[in-house]
Amino acid sequence: MERNVEKMLNRVSMVFISIGTAIMVIMILQTPKTCIPPEAPSKPHTHFPRSTCDSSPRQHVPLSKKNARIWSSKAWKSRLSSFSTYFLRFRDLGFLHNHTKALCLSAGAGHAPMALSQIGLADITAVELVDSLPLVRRADPHNLPFFDGVFDFAFTAHLAEALFPWRFVEEMERTVRRGGFCVVAVDECGGDDVRDISRLFHNSKLVEVANVTLEGSKRTSLLLKVRDSPT
Ligand SMILES: *[C@@H]1O[C@H](CO)[C@@H](O)[C@H](O)[C@H]1NC(C)=O
Ligand SMILES: *[C@@H]1O[C@H](CO)[C@@H](O)[C@H](O)[C@H]1NC(C)=O
Repeated sequence: MERNVEKMLNRVSMVFISIGTAIMVIMILQTPKTCIPPEAPSKPHTHFPRSTCDSSPRQHVPLSKKNARIWSSKAWKSRLSSFSTYFLRFRDLGFLHNHTKALCLSAGAGHAPMALSQIGLADITAVELVDSLPLVRRADPHNLPFFDGVFDFAFTAHLAEALFPWRFVEEMERTVRRGGFCVVAVDECGGDDVRDISRLFHNSKLVEVANVTLEGSKRTSLLLKVRDSPT
């Protein structure tokens, strides 16, 4: 009797050992659940997987086609025309010329640089944290990859959104030559606010303040001239 029990227990433990071994073997043999794409994408740099397990090929719209679609939209054209009107004022006042080297900061999708080009400027640089080629390239406005004094005119409509406005302004003034201009469009304001903003520009003198309509909203535009000699 006792022997039989012992035998049975041995058999039971043998069964468990076998099951355990089988599970281990299966785990070892199983291929990991990470994906190996059936074939490498033909253009690896244009392919960004949605997840690590996504290997489906993505439709790639050529940049020129994508831009043509964006630039022909009604929304784009209306914003563009708004910027053109805004910049034409500076041209009429004599602050912008065809030969002006212009810099647009936090230029978004590129309405401002396109507008400057439309009114005749030939040398325009526009930067944003993400690029929108060919109009806007990637650079941090707080740390511009340009030498001192290489621009005649710098513009931004996004000073208020800057993480460090003082640093943003510092870079604007650094890259604009002495006697050149910094232009900022901010939400409509007057008096103390205008004074506070112009005080950020340690090395420039406020030349003109105007209330304008830009991109359908009321803005106040400040034009500052970078001092001929640093103070
Ligand atoms: C400026 O450039 C535009 C377009 O290229 C041209 O039509 C215009 O005549 C130029 N203006 C001057 C003053 O050269
Ligand atoms: C712009 O509008 C504000 C009111 O929103 C006013 O206080 C300010 O004086 C105006 N600035 C100019 C230059 O007209």
